[in-house]
Amino acid sequence: MGSRQLTEPTLVIATHNKGKLVEIADLMRPFGVACVSAGDKGVSEPEETGTTFEANAELKALHSARATGLPALADDSGLCVNALNGDPGLYSARWAGPTKDFGLAMRKVEDALAAKNAKDRSAFFVACLTLAWPDGHCETFRGEVHGHVVWPPRGDRGFGYDPMFVAENETITFGEMEPGRKHAMSHRARAFADLVAACIAGRRG
Ligand code: IMP
Repeated sequence: MGSRQLTEPTLVIATHNKGKLVEIADLMRPFGVACVSAGDKGVSEPEETGTTFEANAELKALHSARATGLPALADDSGLCVNALNGDPGLYSARWAGPTKDFGLAMRKVEDALAAKNAKDRSAFFVACLTLAWPDGHCETFRGEVHGHVVWPPRGDRGFGYDPMFVAENETITFGEMEPGRKHAMSHRARAFADLVAACIAGRRG
């Protein structure tokens, strides 16, 4: 059976982060989809109690879809370091603490690798995107970009763990990379391309 198509004119973006809203609204514009944020619709942020990226993306999207009666899109993402059994993974945002200090979070990754005397520095970013409808139907897409982590961090572009991540076949970190190039290869771009192909591509703006 094919994926359910997004036919509604308006999509709720299940985030309270203005940056994410702007990025997703830009991606949706060519398809004639108007985006509003869950925050602007007065929807609360649910607790991320899932044990996978997919589960967290689904619970966030469903929460907004049910609260608004409109289709909703959510994403959940993180950095997984193989020698750390996938940490910080689902807890990528939380490793930065209440002040969202990603210098600290990157140092924690490096300290954890040093404590294990790890030689394997391979890592990957994951993004899961879920499109959910008020009747509970979900379409979920996962994108990954593989590479390795470096120390010290390099570059002041991007966000989060970008300054310590080098993608396969690259020499510079995501923190040093021109944003358009990062967005062409990122985990989020890959998940988004699959979502568009499955649920939105048939539609015209
Ligand atoms: P959440 O999906 O909002 O729960 O948080 C994901 C966290 O993963 C972010 O706060 C970042 O720290 C990290 N992350 C996800 N995607 C990226 C990326 O493209 N670059 C750097 N860090 C990322």
